Amino acid sequence: MSTDYKAWRVEEQGGDYVGSEKILNTGDLPEGEVLIRVSHSSLNYKDALSASGNKGVTRNFPHTPGIDAAGEVVESSSDSITAGASVIVTGYDLGMNTDGGFGEYIRVPAAWCVPMPAGWNARTAMIYGTAGLTAGLCVQKLLKMGAAPEQGAVAVSGASGAVGSVAVELLSGLGFDVVAISGKADHAEDLKALGAKDVVGRDALSQEKKPLLKPVFANAVDTVGGTPLAEMLKQVKPGGSVSCCGLVAGPQLETTVLPFILRGVNLLGVDSVEIPLADKVSVWEKFAGEWACPKTEASARDIGRAELDGALKAFLKGESAGKIVLDHSK
Ligand SMILES: NC(=O)c1ccc[n+]([C@@H]2O[C@H](COP(=O)([O-])OP(=O)(O)OC[C@H]3O[C@@H](n4cnc5c(N)ncnc54)[C@H](OP(=O)(O)O)[C@@H]3O)[C@@H](O)[C@H]2O)c1
Repeated sequence: MSTDYKAWRVEEQGGDYVGSEKILNTGDLPEGEVLIRVSHSSLNYKDALSASGNKGVTRNFPHTPGIDAAGEVVESSSDSITAGASVIVTGYDLGMNTDGGFGEYIRVPAAWCVPMPAGWNARTAMIYGTAGLTAGLCVQKLLKMGAAPEQGAVAVSGASGAVGSVAVELLSGLGFDVVAISGKADHAEDLKALGAKDVVGRDALSQEKKPLLKPVFANAVDTVGGTPLAEMLKQVKPGGSVSCCGLVAGPQLETTVLPFILRGVNLLGVDSVEIPLADKVSVWEKFAGEWACPKTEASARDIGRAELDGALKAFLKGESAGKIVLDHSK
């Protein structure tokens, strides 16, 4: 089968990267076992990097971003996935150097496809998207290290963002006292509605000379990296853990070893992209069950392709908040 479809395509124009709607053909999609009609995608910081020409994410243009996609399989040469199945694809190379979910069709290996959890549809899956999956993996790592509500408050940095907001609701639902760290004072009430017990400004993580500070957080989810992560490590209680997944405040981490050797603090790296499919499936199944985040689901915002440009630019300015779903029918 070969069919025309619409995609939000990014092209290089005189050194600038410009996205617009184009008509493409499935015959030009890369090789792969599974052709999927994408009904929904999800917006992530990495999509904003790809759309702005960041060569660490996407080497060649024109390119269709979208690291997340959900929809229906229309063709499959794999025994494990049949036509008509509803699937989720996140991470691996999707939207990076493989045309992604901002187009109405993708073609990918069967090994990238997660069966849609029972009771979910494509939109529900894309409310969570890579950001939700990452928040789930961050929390899962804390729990594996023995994090428990009675140990004290758990901090979430970048709390109003796509990863942070899901982490706030999930941790609160698991009984933790969540301290949301956010630069958006006007989102404090939204963060409390998601379950944050306290909301504090980013100055809670501003640079201090001392190598250790008063330990106030039992555990933490850090979505921003850079100086705020270094400052977070100084404030974690003995034996506590910090899941680290992001770099919006910078990829450099300048720290001493003191939090690690004097307080036994654990820094836990979280990758949602290249991990085995089975590890993704187990987190998706949890979100479709005991880890459901109904407030995140109710507050997600749907946009069409025409609104992608502005929504992606807001990520790069640190102004994006909550979960944004791309609905290809809009
Ligand atoms: N490891 C993985 O597999 C994985 C997966 C998904 C995402 N990520 C990474 O996780 C990070 C968050 O992704 P996202 O999709 O949640 O992005 P996002 O929606 O833009 O959220 C990031 C949040 O960080 C805060 N922030 C922005 N700029 C900041 C700065 N300069 N200093 C301190 N805080 C800042 C803002 O929240 P406040 O205004 O509330 O402070 C912003 O909303 C990104 O770096 C992304 O690449 C990694």
